[in-house]
Amino acid sequence: MVKRNTTKPKKKGVAPVAAIPRKGKAHAALLADLHVLGRDDVDWKKGRVFSLVYHASDAHSAFLKEAHNAFFSENGLNPLAFQSLRRMEKDVVRMALTLLHGDANACGTMTSGGTESLLLAVKMARDHARKKKPWIRRPNIVLPRSAHPAFDKAGEYFGVALKHAALDDEMRVDMKSLKKLVDRNTVMVVASAPQYPHGVMDPIEQVGAFAQKKKLLFHVDACVGGMVLPFLEKLGQPVPAWDFRVPGVTTISADLHKYGYTAKGASVILHRSIATLKHQFFVATEFPGGVYISPSMPGTRPGGPIAAAWAGMQAMGEDGYLALTQKALTATQKLRAGIRGIEGLRLVGDDPTTIVCWSSSNDAIDVYAVADAMQDKGWLVDRQHQPPTVHLTVTANHLPIVDEYLRDLRASVAHVRAHPELKSRGDAAMYGIMARMPIRGAVKLAVDSVIEEMYGPENSGEGGARGDGPVAKLLDKYGATAIETLDRLANVKKRAKTMLAMKLRTKAR
Ligand SMILES: Cc1ncc(COP(=O)(O)O)c(C=O)c1O
Repeated sequence: MVKRNTTKPKKKGVAPVAAIPRKGKAHAALLADLHVLGRDDVDWKKGRVFSLVYHASDAHSAFLKEAHNAFFSENGLNPLAFQSLRRMEKDVVRMALTLLHGDANACGTMTSGGTESLLLAVKMARDHARKKKPWIRRPNIVLPRSAHPAFDKAGEYFGVALKHAALDDEMRVDMKSLKKLVDRNTVMVVASAPQYPHGVMDPIEQVGAFAQKKKLLFHVDACVGGMVLPFLEKLGQPVPAWDFRVPGVTTISADLHKYGYTAKGASVILHRSIATLKHQFFVATEFPGGVYISPSMPGTRPGGPIAAAWAGMQAMGEDGYLALTQKALTATQKLRAGIRGIEGLRLVGDDPTTIVCWSSSNDAIDVYAVADAMQDKGWLVDRQHQPPTVHLTVTANHLPIVDEYLRDLRASVAHVRAHPELKSRGDAAMYGIMARMPIRGAVKLAVDSVIEEMYGPENSGEGGARGDGPVAKLLDKYGATAIETLDRLANVKKRAKTMLAMKLRTKAR
């Protein structure tokens, strides 16, 4: 979330650019600058980052670039002008539908990524209700607490309320909680296959049966799982039913630029039938420039990601996907076994997916302090909260580094056990406070100031959560005390809850 302070000496970089140069610069010099700019980015090729990049092989990437470049200038906005792109999009959607057991009535479109697919699912549900249930004034969608924040973004953009259902002890959506939240203004229910934070599969069959009973739309977010679960199933893993084979599922999102190993900017939103797809479209009839039709969010639709998906999925073939999935599965199993064997750590979620999530099982081991130690060893660590955990999206690219990861993790845990004070130092203190802070508005304020600093005009913002802003100063001064106080408060709250539950039980008897 926030960059760590480093004390490395600064290498010679590229000077900031304030205006288009008066005279065009030489291509070679600019390409060299690009190389310099990328020099300090995370080294994903060596597998030291566990999400963001899905790399099959150098040869596959080179092929994707070639396919992408072949349609670099083409624009899917007008499918009549570029019938090639329309045809490719149709093929990509059909390949995905076949994989996810859509029948001949199923249909869909490509989008630029998971977020756009989810934005469209929410917009579609709102517009479907406007037509079918016009009495609904304030539509809402019921979804698990673990569903991707793109749904919340969509709710904010499109004026749809999001009602978050609780998770059970295994981090699956709690059916009781989900059912309780549905009311007469609910236009859709959502579940994930799997959810991103812990890699856990929501109970899709149960949600599907409930959605059917209540005559509700049901979106399955398989953005991260859509292109890997079918191959895990073919490899004999006990993947629970989650796709169009489940009655009640009306739409599915699946990202191609994740486990589909295609170029970035590619996902699909799939519909069981045209009945919902038509509410995804946008049509403007009064524009002086002519009738404007748009199937998805953007106007201009870059041809590159469509062509790369079309070519990439075929180049990979079922055999290629199975081979990559087998490697990712082996890496996942080795990681889980290794983590199970580290005293002080525990796995969160253990479903047949390729996401690994660990936490501490012992108060002596602070997750964020272990994360800092791992980061010091050169790993990019995906820290999560509620509860504090670390997330790993595992791909074939990680198989060669699993042993090294586990060795570093064992050493980091031992280091943190020997130095309990680390929990209130550096980034661990900041993540600790952010995770424990009961007033979430204060966390938002701190994060807002980081965003302002990143994207606002020069010299704006008051400094970030780190750096030398006021939040950082407070952290440096009160980090340790603040964490202790928040922990004490949490303990008091926990004790009060247990006492109340005991009292209620005695009363009931
Ligand atoms: C379950 C899930 N849904 C949606 C998304 C959003 O995808 P994108 O980052 O491509 O917009 C992600 C991203 O990790 C995800 O894991």
